[in-house]
Amino acid sequence: MHERRYAEPVLTWYAENARDLPWRRPDASPWAVLVSELMLQQTPVVRVLPAYEVWLTRWPTPAALAAEPPGEAVRAWGRLGYPRRALNLHASARAIVEGHEGVVPADYDELRALPGVGAYTAAAVASFAYRRRHAVLDTNVRRVLARAVSGVEYPPKSQTTAEVRLAESLLPPDPPMAARWSVAIMELGALVCTARAPRCADCPLSGDCTWRLTGKPPYDGPPRKGQTYAGTDRQCRGRLLAVLRHSSGPVERSALEEVWEDTLQRERALATLIEDGLVDPLPDNRYALPS
Ligand code: ADE
Repeated sequence: MHERRYAEPVLTWYAENARDLPWRRPDASPWAVLVSELMLQQTPVVRVLPAYEVWLTRWPTPAALAAEPPGEAVRAWGRLGYPRRALNLHASARAIVEGHEGVVPADYDELRALPGVGAYTAAAVASFAYRRRHAVLDTNVRRVLARAVSGVEYPPKSQTTAEVRLAESLLPPDPPMAARWSVAIMELGALVCTARAPRCADCPLSGDCTWRLTGKPPYDGPPRKGQTYAGTDRQCRGRLLAVLRHSSGPVERSALEEVWEDTLQRERALATLIEDGLVDPLPDNRYALPS
């Protein structure tokens, strides 16, 4: 690929249009970057911002979080959703204290070995916290590359090795420049090359975008299903966990029964919360956040 054709316009666009997000500021620590990336995995920026501030004020270092019981991490996760991420962050904090002298590792493989840190998050933290050179492929980046390079409206449902190779081929050779390119192309996907209403007139790649230049052919792959929430087990889990988060100690079973009518679904959701380690069953039909 012709990385030079894309790099300059995207980097210039980023310099002028990037959002001022706290985890991108020069004073954001690697720990702050790790926290932000875990939160941003499945939650939009606007909802992450307040939780991020609260979290880092309370636990400015991995050691601070590691010193608390995991249930406090679950409580502070609030309504970000997918709360196993809170347990993973807590377990990562302990692993960083025990195995890395309290400092978030810079090495991709060491990051990847932390709980809840997959290929994307390891590449993101190595790039954004340590200015290393890695292909950082999130849904936004995958969509930009699908359009600009491959000429299709949306990327494949699951990530392919061809996408990884393409992303790697586009990385500028200099590591700090590559790290800046990675956040820039992600921001372009978030702000301009959006899923439903791309603003091609404002795009620095419009003159080079295969999808646009071929008349924006509509997506013709398998259906892309949006996430439903109301009535799902996930909503039920959220309700049950909220009862525990808002209680200073263990709760009675009856308190859980009050927030979800469907007994079968409630029992199923509770069982998975226990299985995931998000809820501790206690004697006498009581339940607590994990200690
Ligand atoms: N900046 C760095 N990582 C990000 C992410 N995952 N989402 C939005 N902005 C980011």
